[in-house]
Amino acid sequence: MFLLFKIKYFSGIIIYIAILIIILNRISFYKFGEYNYLCCIIIYKVKFAIMEIDWKNLPFGYVKTDYNVRTYYRNGKWGELEISSSEHIDIHIAATVLHYGQEAFEGLKAFRGKDDKIRVFRCIDNARRMQSTSKGIMMAEVPDELFIEAVNKAIKLNKRFVPPYGSGASLYIRPLLFGSGPEVGVKPAKEYFFMVFVTPVGPYFKEGFKPVDMLITREFDRAAPLGTGKYKVGGNYAASLTSMEKAHQGGFANVLYLDAREKKYIDECGPANFFGIKNNTYITPKSDSILPSITNMSLIDLAISMGMKAERRPIPIEELETFDEVGACGTAAVISPIKRIVDDSNGKEYLYGNEPGPISSKLYNKLLAIQSGDEADTFGWVTVIE
Ligand code: PLP
Ligand code: COI
Repeated sequence: MFLLFKIKYFSGIIIYIAILIIILNRISFYKFGEYNYLCCIIIYKVKFAIMEIDWKNLPFGYVKTDYNVRTYYRNGKWGELEISSSEHIDIHIAATVLHYGQEAFEGLKAFRGKDDKIRVFRCIDNARRMQSTSKGIMMAEVPDELFIEAVNKAIKLNKRFVPPYGSGASLYIRPLLFGSGPEVGVKPAKEYFFMVFVTPVGPYFKEGFKPVDMLITREFDRAAPLGTGKYKVGGNYAASLTSMEKAHQGGFANVLYLDAREKKYIDECGPANFFGIKNNTYITPKSDSILPSITNMSLIDLAISMGMKAERRPIPIEELETFDEVGACGTAAVISPIKRIVDDSNGKEYLYGNEPGPISSKLYNKLLAIQSGDEADTFGWVTVIE
């Protein structure tokens, strides 16, 4: 806090000196003419450096940060990480990402604690999931060490964008991997591009930890039964856009997808996994077409540590009637409790109350406490960024 005050204080003085030089140039005999341009740059840069972010009201969106890190896979090996301040990438017109969708991304978060330390959550699990996605669509795999080095570097270079403790916001970390080498026939690229950028974010669902409505629709599938649903590829999200738009137009936060084969079981829940709670049991779908959510795995472990049972199994749609609490979970969503699910094929409604349920609240608070460092991490999930 003191440091922030000092930075602001000295930045303020620098701005005043720069303005003074410009004014002196106009009114005095003594000219600093050649410094006018430099002064304008200083004012702009320093103003940007002390720019205030409204941390408490941050949406889940893009905010420009200072740096990102990037590298290429060429001739069978990964290069050194480069630091860049550009928000752009120069892409070959025949890159496989543009034509054949060879692309994967990840999402993880870093949090500032009461002790001002920055903690990143389950980075290694995101590295492993990106490797699994790479296998799934035949891309070069980013090794654990490179993934972790890139994430840590991107956080350290953008420390001033890690939201303050207690603001409810966090630093969202977005690793991105794609085929950058040119091909015209359908085949995997020989060259790959990997980068990590970060951006401070608030809650994904604007309601935050307030229950939302979800829509079941049989008009669309997000992923095929033996398709790419279990991988974090951009195509899955493109495939979800029309159904999501339909949900938004009806006032729903997102779509609760059913299994694509039989339309009998609960599958993915927008950009998140689904869970339901009853009889002291945490129940979440088992399906080959949903993303193996790291948040969901964490909630299963937390539920068990709280003395609950946990089940991962197919959830028939009729079972929705029997849950006491239901929700969506993911890095961006954290836990988003659900208050109402509407099935548009028959108008059937499932209602769960307008307030978050007690178990969802307990899980939510416990997860956030571990992520921010308020509670001891007995699971080995968080890494302090030194
Ligand atoms: N399902 C989908 C489709 C997602 O995009 C995400 C977000 O990453 C999740 C589930 C949740 O996964 P995680 O908890 O690892 O962020
Ligand atoms: C995440 O939760 O990290 C996600 O990837 C969701 C995202 C598509 C916004």
